[in-house]
Amino acid sequence: MQTRARKISPSLMCADLLNLKRDLDLFIDNDIEYFHIDIMDGHYVHNFSLGFGICQAISSYTDTPQDIHLMIDNPEDFVPLFAQIKSSIITFHPEVVYHPLRTIALIKRHGARAGIALNPAQTIESLKPLLPHVDLLCVMTVVPGFVSQSIIPGGIEKLRETVDYIRSNGYELEIEVDGNVSWENLPEMRDAGAQVFVAGTSSMFESGGDVQSNIRRFRSILEGGE
Ligand code: DX5
Ligand code: ZN
Repeated sequence: MQTRARKISPSLMCADLLNLKRDLDLFIDNDIEYFHIDIMDGHYVHNFSLGFGICQAISSYTDTPQDIHLMIDNPEDFVPLFAQIKSSIITFHPEVVYHPLRTIALIKRHGARAGIALNPAQTIESLKPLLPHVDLLCVMTVVPGFVSQSIIPGGIEKLRETVDYIRSNGYELEIEVDGNVSWENLPEMRDAGAQVFVAGTSSMFESGGDVQSNIRRFRSILEGGE
C-alpha cells in the first residue's frame, strides 16, 4: 500500500450495516488506510454504536488497521480487550480518566498505538503534557456521541490552530478530524492541515450515495481537487 500524506478513515457506524462486507471490500480494494470504529457506552455519551465483536470480525477479515475511538468511561478497563485487535489505534477521551499518561502507557504496553481525543469543549493547551506520548490526536468538530451533526462553529479554525500548535512544538503525531467531514467542510479541513479524515454520513456514507464513487471523490478532494 502506498503511504499517502492524507488518509481516509471511514466511520463504520455510519455504514449500511446490512451490507458491511460489500463496503469493506470496496474500501480494501481502494487501499483505505484505517477503519474508524466508534465505541460508545451509553454513559460517557448517551448512545451506543459498534462493539468489540465487529472489531474481531473485521480483524479476522482484513489487516487494515482499526482506528478505535473509545467514547466510554473507564477506558483503561477495556484497553486489554481492544488491544487484541492487531495494529489498532486506541483513542480515548483524557477528560474521563484521572491519570491519562498511565492510560497512554497501558495502551502502548499492550502493543497498540495510543490516541487521545480533543473534546470540542477543551483547548489543545490542556492536553500539552500528553502530546509527546501519543501517536494520534483526534480533533472532534462535533460533540461526541452522535452522527449527522453539524460542525461546531469555529471548528475548522480550531483545527487549524491545533495543527499549528502541534507542528510548531515539533510533536510527531497524526492529526485526525472527526465530525461532519462533509463535502463542503473537507477542502477546508484538508487546508487546515488534518492528516486523517473520519468519513461519515455527510460524505462517504451520505444517504443515497454510492460508496465507490464517494471514495474517488474523497481522494480527489484530499489530493487538491474541488
Ligand atoms: C461521533 C463519532 C464520529 C461519527 C462521525 O461521535 O465520533 O466518528 O461517526 O459521523 P458524521 O460524519 O456523521 O459526523
Ligand atoms: Zn469517532
